[in-house]
Amino acid sequence: MMPTSHSPIQSTNVYSTPSLFPFSPPLLSSSSSSFLSLEPSSHRLCSLHVYSNAHLRITHKSNGPKLRSSLKEPPLKVMISGAPASGKGTQCELIVKKFGLVHISTGDLLRAEVSSGTEIGNKAKEFMNAGKLVPDEIVTAMVTSRLSRDDVKEKGWLLDGYPRSFSQAQSLQNLNIIPDVYIVLDVPDEILIDRCVGRRLDPVTKKIYHVKNFPPETEEIKARLTTRPDDTAEKVKSRLEIYKKNADAILSSYSNIMKRIDGNHPKEVIFGEIDSILSQVLNDKEKKRKLGSSLSQSSSIQDNWRGIPTKLNNIPHSRDIRNYFYDDVLQATKRSINDGGIRLKVEINIPELNPEMDVYRIGTLLELVRTLALSFADDGKSVKVCVQGSMGEGALAGMPLQLAGTRQILEYMDWGEYGAMETFIKIGAIGAKHVDDTDDLFILVAPQNAVGNCIIEDLQAMTDAAGDRPVILINPRLKDLPGSSGIMQTMGRDKRLKYAATFQNCYFFRLLYYAGTQYPIMGALRMSYPYRYELYKRVNDPSGKEKYVIISTYPQKPTIDEVNNAFEGKPRNENKKAVGFWGFLNGILQN
Ligand code: AP5
Repeated sequence: MMPTSHSPIQSTNVYSTPSLFPFSPPLLSSSSSSFLSLEPSSHRLCSLHVYSNAHLRITHKSNGPKLRSSLKEPPLKVMISGAPASGKGTQCELIVKKFGLVHISTGDLLRAEVSSGTEIGNKAKEFMNAGKLVPDEIVTAMVTSRLSRDDVKEKGWLLDGYPRSFSQAQSLQNLNIIPDVYIVLDVPDEILIDRCVGRRLDPVTKKIYHVKNFPPETEEIKARLTTRPDDTAEKVKSRLEIYKKNADAILSSYSNIMKRIDGNHPKEVIFGEIDSILSQVLNDKEKKRKLGSSLSQSSSIQDNWRGIPTKLNNIPHSRDIRNYFYDDVLQATKRSINDGGIRLKVEINIPELNPEMDVYRIGTLLELVRTLALSFADDGKSVKVCVQGSMGEGALAGMPLQLAGTRQILEYMDWGEYGAMETFIKIGAIGAKHVDDTDDLFILVAPQNAVGNCIIEDLQAMTDAAGDRPVILINPRLKDLPGSSGIMQTMGRDKRLKYAATFQNCYFFRLLYYAGTQYPIMGALRMSYPYRYELYKRVNDPSGKEKYVIISTYPQKPTIDEVNNAFEGKPRNENKKAVGFWGFLNGILQN
C-alpha cells in the first residue's frame, strides 16, 4: 500500500463554510498573516511447485500450516526484504515451517529457470551472473503468475526478493497485491560480503549452508555443496549497490507496514522477532474479522491516515497540510474517547503551532480547537472550550503571552451559521466553577504555567469537577516556570508532575531537524492513538519529490538515542551519546 497521498480529509462537520474572522485581526503582521487565514476546516513442508517446472529452495517437510489450520483468519501476506545475503532465504525456511505460507523467491524461481535451460532462464542468466537485476517484465510475469495460484490464495504468501525496484512495487500496487507486513532485515555491509562468499547450497535438499556459520552436517553433504555464480566478493558489491539504490524507493511504498529487524544475530533470535511480528499480525487480522464491519470500517479510516503529508518543507504549510493535521488530531482524539479516555493530551508542534516563534501562531491553534469542538458538537456533545484567565497577584499578575487575547478571538471566531456556539459549544476558563452539569467534554487551549504562576491547581480542581467527562489538553505547557522567588520550585513540584502525567497522549507530532537548525525538515515523529509512535524520515522519491517513510515504530515515545540510531540505520540496542546530529532534540523528546 502506498502511503496516503495526503489529500485533505473531508470533515463530517455540518457547521461549514464560514470564515473564522469576520474582520481582519488587527494583531496580524504581514509576515504572519499566512498563518492566520483562518477558515473553519471543512473540515516449510514445502516442495512447492512453482512457475514453469521449477521448485522452490525450501524442501523441508513439516506438518504444514500449524497456526492457520486452527484459526480461520484470512491468510497472511508477507514480504521480506534486505540486502543480498541478509538472511532472507534462511528466515523464509523458518517462517514457512511455522506459518505454512507459500514461499515465492524470485531468486529461486529464476535459478530454477536457468538450470532448466528455459527461454526465460537463458535471458535471465547473464543479468544474474553479472549481479544485475533481471528485467522487470520477466520477473513480474513470474511473480504474478505464481501469486494467482490456488495454494497461494489458500495458504497465504511469503514474497522474498520482490519487489526490488520502484516499478516492481508499482506493478504490485496496480494489481492490488498488498502485503500485511513488510519485513526488512538490516545487516552491516562487511558481514553481508562474508555471508555471500561463504554460502553453499545443497542441490539435493535445497538447504542453505555457510562454510563457517552453518557448516554441513555430514561429509557426504559437504561433498555435493555448490556455490552460486553470483556469490563472488566483486558481484556481491554490485548487488549491494543495486539494492541500496532501490531500497528507499521501495520502502516508501510499504513504510506504513514496515518492520525493521536487526539481521546481525543468530538466526533463531531473528526468527523469534519475526515470529512475534507475524503472530501479532495474525492476531490483529483475527480481531478485525471478529469485530466485524464496525471495526473494519474504523480501521480503514486509519489506513487512509497512515503516512504524513509531503511538502512539509514548504513553510508556511498549506491549508491542505493544516487540514490534514486538524483531522489527524480529531480522529486520534475520537478513537481515544471511544476507548474510554478521559484525561487526554494533544501535543503537536508543526511550525504554525510553535508558540516559541510568535504569538500569532495562536490562530492555527484555534483553528485546530474549532475543528475538534465542531466535530464533537456534530456528534451531539456539549463542548466547553476553555482558556485560562489572568493568574497571580501583584507584580506576578498576568497571563502567558501566547494566550493574551485568546478568549476574545474565540468569541469573535466564526463558528458557523448553524448556531453551534452557545448551543453546543460554550467558552469558559480553567477552574472548577467553569464546569457545568450540562457540559459533556472540555477542550483546554494550551493551558500553561506562567513565570511564578502555576495553572495546575485550577486544572486539578476542574478535572475533579469534571469527573469521568473527557478533558482534552491541547498543547499544554505544564513545566514549572519559576519566578525570581523560586516559588514554583519549592511548592509541591512532585505532586504537580504526577498530576500532569495523568494526561495521556492521544496525539503527538513533532518535526525533526538537524541539530542546531530548524530547516530543512528531515523527518517527524507521530503518534495517533491507538497506534505506535512512528518515526518518519525524509527521502526523495525517484522524481525528486519530498516524501516521508516510516523507518521505525515504538510502543513508547522514543529517546533521542533511539531516534539517532534509527536515522543512522543502527540497531536499536546500540546506544550512543546524543550529540551533534539530532542532538538538539534531546530536551524536546525526553520531556
Ligand atoms: P536472490 O537469490 O534473491 O539474491 P539476494 O537478494 O541477493 O539474496 P540472497 O539469496 O543472496 O541472500 P538471502 O538474503 O536469501 O540470504 P541467505 O538466507 O541465503 O536473487 C539473485 C539474483 O536474481 C539477483 O541478483 C537478480 O539478478 C535476480 N533477481 C531476483 N529477484 C529479482 C527481482 N525482483 N528483480 C530483478 N532481478 C531479480 O543467507 C546468506 C548466507 O548467510 C548463507 O550462507 C546463510 O547460511 C548465512 N546466514 C543467514 N542468516 C544468518 C545469520 N543470522 N547469521 C549468520 N549467517 C547467516
